[in-house]
Amino acid sequence: MDFEVKRAELGDDKKLMELEARCFRIKYERNFIWFWKPFTQHAYVYKAIFDKKIVGGILAFPTKHPGTIYIESIFVDTKFRDHGVATRLIEKVSKHAGCRELILDTMPGWKNAVNLYRKQGFRVVKKLKNYYEDGTDRVLMVKRLR
Ligand SMILES: CC(C)(COP(=O)(O)OP(=O)(O)OC[C@H]1O[C@@H](n2cnc3c(N)ncnc32)[C@H](O)[C@@H]1OP(=O)(O)O)[C@@H](O)C(=O)NCCC(=O)NCCS
Repeated sequence: MDFEVKRAELGDDKKLMELEARCFRIKYERNFIWFWKPFTQHAYVYKAIFDKKIVGGILAFPTKHPGTIYIESIFVDTKFRDHGVATRLIEKVSKHAGCRELILDTMPGWKNAVNLYRKQGFRVVKKLKNYYEDGTDRVLMVKRLR
């Protein structure tokens, strides 16, 4: 599949926000725009484009630890999965100058995501029990680049 990965721009915010909500099957909230607008301007946000449409996105931030980038969200339209879109989005973030380590947290039961991260070289470094108020657990995964 011939797709392109590019830095997102202001104006991509609404499409990314809608795609993220669809991919995570969460109720779309118009208020998410209050986050997505500054993210597309100031965070590391990339979009995957196929046939002029956004089919995937990644949202990442530099952290207080120099060289460490945190991946907050990654999502690919169901019709475009298993073609390496997420893999390319992660690679793009890892190419940021000075990036030595990628970190993320995810649901231990989300097999698609956990398998993808493992194949990409992420390792579970911590189990975060009762991470959320509803008792949901998370796992912290890390990929060291150099
Ligand atoms: C998790 C998610 C982002 C993965 O996206 P994706 O684009 O399908 O991921 P990739 O295609 O890069 O990798 C998935 C599989 O395709 C394979 N693949 C990678 N490059 C490929 C290529 N060029 N051609 C064919 N397959 C490829 C990968 O090896 C992987 O194989 P596996 O299923 O055996 O593990 C996607 O399923 C999604 O949006 N899920 C809902 C949201 C979500 O859970 N996000 C993560 C939250 S932590």
